Amino acid sequence: MTRVLNVAVVGLGIGKSHIAEGYAKHSDKFRVLALCDLDTKRLAAVGDEFDVPRRTASFDDVLGMSDIDVVDICTPPTLHAPQTLAAIAAEKHVICEKPLAGSLADVDRLIAAQKRAAGRIMPVFQYRFGNGLQKAKRIVELGLAGKPYLATIETAWKRTADYYAVPWRGKWETELGGVVLTQAIHSHDIMTYLMGPIASVFARTATRVNPIEVEDCAVASLEMKSGALVSLAATLGSQREISRLRFCFEHVTFESALEPYQPGDDPWEIIPASPEAEARIDAALEDWRFVPSRYEGLFPAWHAALAAKAELPVTLEDARRSLELVTALMHSAETGQVVDLPIGADHPKYRSWRPASQSAAGRR
Ligand SMILES: NC(=O)c1ccc[n+]([C@@H]2O[C@H](COP(=O)([O-])OP(=O)(O)OC[C@H]3O[C@@H](n4cnc5c(N)ncnc54)[C@H](O)[C@@H]3O)[C@@H](O)[C@H]2O)c1
Repeated sequence: MTRVLNVAVVGLGIGKSHIAEGYAKHSDKFRVLALCDLDTKRLAAVGDEFDVPRRTASFDDVLGMSDIDVVDICTPPTLHAPQTLAAIAAEKHVICEKPLAGSLADVDRLIAAQKRAAGRIMPVFQYRFGNGLQKAKRIVELGLAGKPYLATIETAWKRTADYYAVPWRGKWETELGGVVLTQAIHSHDIMTYLMGPIASVFARTATRVNPIEVEDCAVASLEMKSGALVSLAATLGSQREISRLRFCFEHVTFESALEPYQPGDDPWEIIPASPEAEARIDAALEDWRFVPSRYEGLFPAWHAALAAKAELPVTLEDARRSLELVTALMHSAETGQVVDLPIGADHPKYRSWRPASQSAAGRR
């Protein structure tokens, strides 16, 4: 019999979507028993809408609830690492929104804490889920795509003054980054999900769309460990919002649809290089079962992995890889240099990817 996990959701902005798109659609696997937010209006509104019995403004209250199995962290970015560490110390499972932490040093702290912990931490990358991208992933994993040649990844979204009216957004101190960290992180995760590890990065960033501190436009040129090349382009000033992902491999090209916030969903075009490649791909997808998008797809995969003690659908190493790319992009944009990966504890940006002028050390 499936064990129903009791969940506490902390932070009710995107946290509300976790409930609506994820937990509420899988009530045989999850029960949202508690909500936590400093904003009492949000607490009451979301609590009433989803009929959640416990509501509190205190994170410590949540940690003290012995029947809570999962703490779902959807607070602003600087709280993610400390709240995750506290929840793991309280022997809870944790799911944490992006960015998992504010530096590679903090991610490594979480990886070390996880090794000693009873509970397990899953970072959120819900955009991996969707029927189109998951088919492409299977084809790549089975080795049917062949040599990766090139990918082009566009994240062209729109943000205006309303979005930046929320005080933590737009500032280095509290958002920790701009379009590279907050928005394009999803498309960039999908890129490495299909293309594998990165060897080196060159980037330029600019703030051109909104009067904010952090970047809202970025371009980058990457070389992958495989030798493949990748171009990234991200802006928050696109009048039509799209996410466009194209992957050219030896035996197949994959092309996403343009839907900005569900880029994993069909229709993805799967364009084989030959009738033979097409036959191999068709055979590999013969028993395909539809994969729902975003949290609706991620959450049951996460529940199954927890139950089986198997690898989680998004791992701490995945979060580290994505924040390593953020660190490299930021460092390259700041220095004008090509940045080689991996980035370890001896790198100048290991403890913070923020520009020197914006970090605590730089302001002293
Ligand atoms: N995966 C995605 O697609 C996605 C989408 C949106 C946001 N996010 C991420 O989720 C996080 C939250 O973003 P948001 O847009 O929902 O922000 P938000 O400001 O709308 O919501 C955050 C909530 O956290 C509450 N909060 C702040 N401090 C708290 C504390 N100590 N204890 C309890 N509650 C507290 C606030 O009152 C607020 O209601 C960010 O890291 C953001 O990048 C992810």
